Amino acid sequence: MKKSLLAIAATAALSMAVATSAQASDVLIGSCIYKFDDTFMTGVRNNMEQAATTLGAEIELVDSQNRQPMQNDQVDTFITKGVNALIINPVDRSAAGPLADKAKAADLPIIFVNREPDRKILDSWEKAYYVGAKAEESGTIGGQLIAEYFKAHPEADKNGDGKLQYILIKGEQGHQDATLRSEYCVKAMKDAGLDIVEVGSDNANWDKVQGHDKMKNFITSLGIDGIEAVLANNDDMALGAVEALKSEGYNLGTDGKDPSKFIPVVGVDATAPALQAISKGQMLGTSLNDAKNQGTAAVRIAVKAANGEEVTSESIGYTLTDGKYVWIPYVRVTQENYKDFM
Ligand code: GAL
Ligand code: CA
Repeated sequence: MKKSLLAIAATAALSMAVATSAQASDVLIGSCIYKFDDTFMTGVRNNMEQAATTLGAEIELVDSQNRQPMQNDQVDTFITKGVNALIINPVDRSAAGPLADKAKAADLPIIFVNREPDRKILDSWEKAYYVGAKAEESGTIGGQLIAEYFKAHPEADKNGDGKLQYILIKGEQGHQDATLRSEYCVKAMKDAGLDIVEVGSDNANWDKVQGHDKMKNFITSLGIDGIEAVLANNDDMALGAVEALKSEGYNLGTDGKDPSKFIPVVGVDATAPALQAISKGQMLGTSLNDAKNQGTAAVRIAVKAANGEEVTSESIGYTLTDGKYVWIPYVRVTQENYKDFM
């Protein structure tokens, strides 16, 4: 009696496990990335693939090549093909509405990532979600890092006027991460009591080469001695600025080089090259933009929703806010803890 009950229980458990995995492996996710040639989004993309493998789901990723009309067509193709869920990194977040409409018409869950659509777009379809990070946090971390450095290093006030002359290198215009990081890094420096002067500010579209070129221009117009700090909205642009400083004999690193020739530069993302630069003392710090958890959360929502299961904090293992949002926290990264992220 006891034995047969156990056997029944075992069989039931087994068939349940089989049912879950069979269900999961039936899920095909179609995913558009605004462009493949983006360092941070490449991290998210790779982590989405991994998360899908872990859950036994399939994911097809396509490159929208920074063109919204191309992305719209890709979404149509995915729907025709019969995908069970969509994960979309919009090219233009203000053009996300029609994509949510397409998903709704096909009764498909749609998870937007990294580029946040308006709340009313998310509200227009019950199976629409957003996974991202609060850009205010990374802005604040960058501003605080610079403020701490400036207070601890009186020599960083190169012209000795008691004020901090800084450069701001911004991401793409209209991107919530560019707007909020810029606003909040400035606010954090002010809140820390610094007397700040913005001597230069420009957009470099998340791009290392553009970051380098913009920084070169600033050096030419202001002179290297007119610049005391650089705050960039992401690591690629920060690394471009570091390259420009290197060609002036600055930020060559602590390894046998003149440590007084250092201008603090901060970014956002904690990409592998940025962690390298931090380890070598060429860059002051950054914040982890957590590609792994953002990618994983998006895929978990997609699989749950595709299987017709309820999407809740418990079912996905990430806090779901307002039934729509998963916010992954940023983490401050400096020379003290960079190894934890390598
Ligand atoms: C930001 C990230 C940038 C860039 C951008 C693309 O969150 O910091 O490096 O990847 O997203 O939308
Ligand atoms: Ca100064």
